[in-house]
Amino acid sequence: MADLDLIKSKLDIVDVVLSYLPDLKKAGSNFKTHCPFHNEKTPSFMVNPSLQLFKCFGCGKVGDAITFIKEIERVEFKEALQIAAERAGVDITQNNQYQNNELKKQKERILEANTLTAKLFNYILSTHKSGKVGRDYAQKRGIDAARISKFLIGYAPNKTDNLKKFLLSKGFTEKELFEFGLLVERDKKFIDKFRHRLMQPVFSTKGEIIGFSGRYIGTFKDAPKYLNSPETPVYKKNQILYGLYHAKDSIRKNGFVILEEGNIDVLSSHRVGIENIVAPLGTAFTENQAVLIKKYTDTVYFCFDTDEAGIAALVRGIGILEDAGLKYKVINIDNFQDPDDLISKSPDLWIEKVGSPVDAVEYLIARFTKGQNLSTSEGKNNFAEKIVPVLRSIKNPISFSHYLNEVSVLVDVNPKIFEERFISKTASYKNKSTKNQEESVLYPKTMPENELKLLSFIIQNFKKIDAENFVPEVFSDSRLKELFIEIKRNLKSDNFSEVALALNDELKTIFSELVLKDLTGYKSVVETAKKLYSTLLEKYLRREILNLRKKVATDDEKTINELALKTKELKSLLQKIRST
Ligand code: UTP
Ligand code: MN
Repeated sequence: MADLDLIKSKLDIVDVVLSYLPDLKKAGSNFKTHCPFHNEKTPSFMVNPSLQLFKCFGCGKVGDAITFIKEIERVEFKEALQIAAERAGVDITQNNQYQNNELKKQKERILEANTLTAKLFNYILSTHKSGKVGRDYAQKRGIDAARISKFLIGYAPNKTDNLKKFLLSKGFTEKELFEFGLLVERDKKFIDKFRHRLMQPVFSTKGEIIGFSGRYIGTFKDAPKYLNSPETPVYKKNQILYGLYHAKDSIRKNGFVILEEGNIDVLSSHRVGIENIVAPLGTAFTENQAVLIKKYTDTVYFCFDTDEAGIAALVRGIGILEDAGLKYKVINIDNFQDPDDLISKSPDLWIEKVGSPVDAVEYLIARFTKGQNLSTSEGKNNFAEKIVPVLRSIKNPISFSHYLNEVSVLVDVNPKIFEERFISKTASYKNKSTKNQEESVLYPKTMPENELKLLSFIIQNFKKIDAENFVPEVFSDSRLKELFIEIKRNLKSDNFSEVALALNDELKTIFSELVLKDLTGYKSVVETAKKLYSTLLEKYLRREILNLRKKVATDDEKTINELALKTKELKSLLQKIRST
């Protein structure tokens, strides 16, 4: 047994939570108390012993005993595991050593495969005859020999087994290469993932090649423009930035880093002598990336694309940097699409722009007022709606007040009132918590509320309400119907984990949500559930009768009989409902 499973098998989540939250009380088949992770008046923090899960329906936090320890002790996973191991009386130091060694070996192997791959593709792009099309493309994009060699740019030919053959001959297995993200599966065979692509190796800050980003250079319309490496033990995409390794010295020298969106822009900027530039790889800029930047500088110059998406990314980016305590400005490239677009047209202008960054909030104010008629109520509201999230994220009180005054003048509202109505902390807190609450529901929101409710009654009180006799068809949602059938099959002994085992991932999510649903507010469980069931049964019978009637005109005797039967059933059901 792996350490984690062993520890979990020896820990009971109720004991663990109880040791931190002595007010935890039994509530139906769950335990319940006030959530320790956010402020609340009525308890919505639920713990389920059979599933060994906790979930707060207020803030959405969810997890197992280890997650709980991690969150409440505010420690990393590793340390939480250590605390849990001590509680459970499991010695994990020896096993850990072994696992660490295995992981280290695997990492080395990925790096070796990646390095060989980068060198092969780089050789093909630089000299091999099959690299001609890649060389033409590189030339067209202004990727010169110095950049090709410094960034180890390559070309992956349009073949399915070029890299595969090469790496198999070096002693790697197909399975390994698949796991490393170099091969993909197609028609039950493993083939090269990167085909007909300009290859950009991704370097760690130590200079190891941890993954790839490959730009498609063909004409086939459905091919994704970029393919990136999947997450592997060495490649965590929200924790790296393309170009950072080659930007480090320049960042330290200049005291700031340029953060933009594209990979090729990094190369173009280097070509014209500006090297302190990085890009997130196909993901939105993240907190982790901000933390990474902070190791090298305290100032970021944003130069995101100038389209709507780029502006939205800028607003989010400002929020992230505010939280991380970094300073920021914007390089205004007017109507050029991205840095590469500008550099290809006017290298000098890029250098000039980088040398004269503008205030980020002023930039957004200008952008958001453009095209709005601020002498109308509509124009003022449109503008306010866009700028409020930006103002809300500003931490420094002097800066905040400065921009607040400016915006208030533009919309002609007293700053105090503007702040109270639009920005105040409670407003932002409200926003946040309702958002969380929505997100905290894991099952698809389109599922019928009544059916979900009935199912949670059934799950938590299977025997009491005699759900054995319920017909699955009352669930109009096919997933809930399937879930009910599984529950009927497995829930004889209240053993939730047995039910969970039989479910696919989607159903498992819905199931654990329903197990933890707080039903303690209902006076009579049996009555409520039976009523709900009747309502749904009636609906089902009516649906069926309608369907059968449609068929009857053309169809056989069987349908007619069935129709008679269902009609009779509905009649007696209606009688029963009325008499109670
Ligand atoms: P862009 O679509 O702006 O491309 O994506 P680009 O960098 O300007 O590339 P060119 O100039 O058209 O060749 C910006 C970045 O988003 C990621 C890549 O890292 C890209 O550089 N991306 C884009 C993906 O990961 N996958 C995609 O399908 C597209
Ligand atoms: Mn571009």
